[in-house]
Amino acid sequence: MCIIFPMQTYLFPALKYSAVAAALLFMNACLPDQNDDPDSSDPDPKTSEPGAENAATADFGKTKAGESTEIYTLKNKNGLIAKVATYGATLVELHIPDKEGNFVDVLNGFDDVSGYEDDDNQYFGSTTGRVCNRIAKGEFSLDGKEYTLATNNDPNHLHGGGDKALSKQVWKAVPASDAQAVTFSLTSPDGEEGYPGNLSMKVTYTLGDDNELRIDYEATTDKATPVNLTNHAYFNLGGAGSGTVLDHELTLNADNYTPTDDTLIPTGKIEPVEGTPLDFRKAHTIGDRVPDKGASKTDDCKTAPKGYDHNFVLNGKAGEQRLAARLKDPKSGRVMEIYTDQPGIQFYSGNFLKGQTGKGGKTYPFRGAVCLETQHFPDGVNHDNFPNTILKPGETYKTSTVHKFSTE
Ligand code: BGC
Repeated sequence: MCIIFPMQTYLFPALKYSAVAAALLFMNACLPDQNDDPDSSDPDPKTSEPGAENAATADFGKTKAGESTEIYTLKNKNGLIAKVATYGATLVELHIPDKEGNFVDVLNGFDDVSGYEDDDNQYFGSTTGRVCNRIAKGEFSLDGKEYTLATNNDPNHLHGGGDKALSKQVWKAVPASDAQAVTFSLTSPDGEEGYPGNLSMKVTYTLGDDNELRIDYEATTDKATPVNLTNHAYFNLGGAGSGTVLDHELTLNADNYTPTDDTLIPTGKIEPVEGTPLDFRKAHTIGDRVPDKGASKTDDCKTAPKGYDHNFVLNGKAGEQRLAARLKDPKSGRVMEIYTDQPGIQFYSGNFLKGQTGKGGKTYPFRGAVCLETQHFPDGVNHDNFPNTILKPGETYKTSTVHKFSTE
C-alpha cells in the first residue's frame, strides 16, 4: 500500500503532466493506490501515439570509474529546452527566452561528466541527498541507534556526504514516450554513506508546454531513515556566466526563517524576517542588503557573512503546492516562479562560487548565480519541532517542485 509521507502531498496534476504519469505508471509499484485518482488512470493519447519520440539522448562521457553517462534533451512546443544527465540526476542546461524572445542557458554547469566529477562542481544542478543541506556533526539517532555520517563540510555533514552522495552516482534513466519527460531511478543500499535502509528513489523532470519545469521525487525504504531531496540548480536569469545576480529581484513567500550557529546549523528557533535583511516578502534586489552592504552588522546575517545562505519557513500549508519564490532579472525581463509542497527553501546567493570555468568556457564568479532549494529544514533529523524527515517502511515519500518561466 502506498502511504503518503507526512507533511507532503503528491499533487498529481491533470493531463498536462500526463507524460510523467505515464513514466510513473510504468515504473511505480504503488500503482493500485493511484488508480483511485481519475487523473492518473486516464491514459494520455500523446504517450500512446505511434511514432512519438522520446527525449533525444547523447553520450555525456565516462566517469573516472569507467561508467557510461548520458544526457537527455527535453523540449516543449515554445522552444524551451532542458537537458538532464544520468550523473547525479542532474539538471545541466535550461534555455529560456527573454522579453525579446532571445534564448539563453540560465544554469551553471559543465560540458560533460568530467566537470561534474571535479572539485569545481559545487552540486551544480544535481539531485542532492539522501539528506540535502546540513546534519550537525554528521550525527543523529533513530529508534535508539546512533548513526555517524561523513563530516564533509567540517564539522557537519552536507548534501548526503562523500563519494556515494546522490549527486555523485549514475542514475538509471527511463524517458517518457514523448520528448518532455525523463524519470531517473536509483537504489541506495542499506548503510551507504552511513544512512540506514535500502532507499529506492525516482526523480522525474517534466518540461510542460506551459513553460513549467516540474521535478517530482519519490522514495521508499525498508528501514526508518531520514530523507530530504532537493535540486541544487544555480540560476542566473541573465544567462549563466554573465556576471553576478546582485541585480536580480527576489520575493520569498516566507514570514519566518531558521537562525543558525556560525556553522550554519539551526539553533532550533523560528524567527520572523521582519526588520531584518532577510525580509523578501516584497521584492528586493539580492544586492540591496548583502552583508558587505551592512547586513553583517545584524545578528541575522553574521552566520553567513559572505551573503545569503538561509533556510526560510514557507508560508502556507506544507504538503500543498504554493508559491515559494519569484526571481526576476530586470534587464532581460526573465522571471522564474517556484511552487512547492515543501515546508522550506534555502536561499543561497552563490557565496562560494570562485570563478570556476564551466559550460562553453563561461566563468561563474562569486555571487554569479542563486540557488533556491526547496526542502525540509536543515538538520531536521535533530530538531523535534521541525517538520518530520523520517521515512518509514510502508510509506512513500512524494514531493514536487515547479519552476515556471515567463517574461515581463
Ligand atoms: C548550502 C551552502 C553550500 C552550498 C554548496 C548550499 O545548499 O546552503 O552553504 O556552500 O550548498 O554548494
